[in-house]
Amino acid sequence: MIIVVAALKGGVGKTTTSVYLGALAAARRPATLVDADPQASAADWIESAEDEHLERLTLVEAPTDRLLIKALDRIDPEEVAVVDTPPGNERLLVKAIERADVVVVPTRIGGVETARVEAVLDLVPRKLPVGLVICSARTYTRDYQDVVAAWTEANVPVWGSVPERVTIATGPEGSLAPDGIEAYRSVWRRALRAVRES
Ligand SMILES: Nc1ncnc2c1ncn2[C@@H]1O[C@H](COP(=O)(O)OP(=O)(O)OP(=O)(O)O)[C@@H](O)[C@H]1O
Ligand SMILES: [Mg+2]
Repeated sequence: MIIVVAALKGGVGKTTTSVYLGALAAARRPATLVDADPQASAADWIESAEDEHLERLTLVEAPTDRLLIKALDRIDPEEVAVVDTPPGNERLLVKAIERADVVVVPTRIGGVETARVEAVLDLVPRKLPVGLVICSARTYTRDYQDVVAAWTEANVPVWGSVPERVTIATGPEGSLAPDGIEAYRSVWRRALRAVRES
């Protein structure tokens, strides 16, 4: 199963989402994190963090279209691959989505975010399951609630919201945060269910 974490915008939570989903997948089955971003921030994180959740996760760096395709063609059916994508590379994103079983789109709450998400959703074929994860969410705010209501209205499922927390923001050096794991577990389960039902 190939999960593509897709956003064209920078800094929305792609790498954070990919690493947490990869760690959750690796708890139960063979799992590979495919880092398609030349910045290699997921690779740096996995290599530097001492966290039991990350120990079982295999890392493959695939920073070009060609390497990405090669890496994804090698994933066997029992395995889970989570693909972290670079910002602003629509061509590579399209290649990744062509091979995806499910697409997870991280986003944040804010003015232009909806249009950015729509641009990604336009790249996803109609029958491919896709859901949003709202990163750094202040779930108690009106803005948050309005955005979730608008996506629900538009029939785009919100598979999870990851609260704004310093523990996650400390990022690459750190271990996975328990509340991050909990939030992403909901995303993982709903993504799995969407694949099964598709
Ligand atoms: N739930 C969260 N709460 C607070 N900060 C977060 C959260 N998720 C991610 N961040 C922080 O936001 C920043 C960007 O996150 P991340 O690197 O995951 O985004 P990205 O989309 O992969 O960025 P890039 O486009 O540079 O690859 C990081 O500093 C990260 O620690
Ligand atoms: Mg990133």
